[in-house]
Amino acid sequence: MPDMLVKLYELPEAAPALKQVADRGVEIRRPIAPEKHVVVNWVREHFGEGWASETEVAFSNHPVSCYIAIEEDKLIGFACYESTCKAYFGPTGVGVEARGKGVGGALLIASMHGLRELGYAYGIIGGAGPVEFYRKTLGAIPIEGSVPGIYKGMLK
Ligand SMILES: CC(C)(COP(=O)(O)OP(=O)(O)OC[C@H]1O[C@@H](n2cnc3c(N)ncnc32)[C@H](O)[C@@H]1OP(=O)(O)O)[C@@H](O)C(=O)NCCC(=O)NCCS
Repeated sequence: MPDMLVKLYELPEAAPALKQVADRGVEIRRPIAPEKHVVVNWVREHFGEGWASETEVAFSNHPVSCYIAIEEDKLIGFACYESTCKAYFGPTGVGVEARGKGVGGALLIASMHGLRELGYAYGIIGGAGPVEFYRKTLGAIPIEGSVPGIYKGMLK
């Protein structure tokens, strides 16, 4: 799972991806502080303690460096950035039932705009699992020699 580099100065507009999911009844927005327990618990339940910890850190930033996807008042996906390291994207995940409908892509693009707004020229996808998803959605490039990278010796 290499880290991957994204050119934030060549990002596609977020609006088309957000509209595509909005037309299907999915809202993408930043969570607010009173929703922290809902989001962190959902991430823990679906993706485990490590990602829940990273999500908690995203809630310590102002604005919260996280986007969530909501359908019929239920959380169906999340994406964090500026959590484990500065300029890093991740973790991200979409509920199994909701995958393959553009939700993960919309969360990714919204988050990358969040990084761009912080002033970075490049975003880094930390420990990219589905490399093809990132290449396809944003033209991300694997960073040579980045395994295990920042995660070396991580306690579990
Ligand atoms: C990766 C993930 C967030 C993608 O979410 P999603 O809502 O299914 O993604 P989208 O529907 O927006 O897909 C966007 C494009 O990427 C492709 N894609 C999605 N997941 C992919 C994967 N795992 N491998 C290759 N391509 C993938 C889709 O086919 C789609 O292509 P298209 O536009 O040509 O149709 C989701 O599969 C997931 O939660 N996986 C488990 C957690 C995980 O691995 N997170 C990443 C950690 S780095």
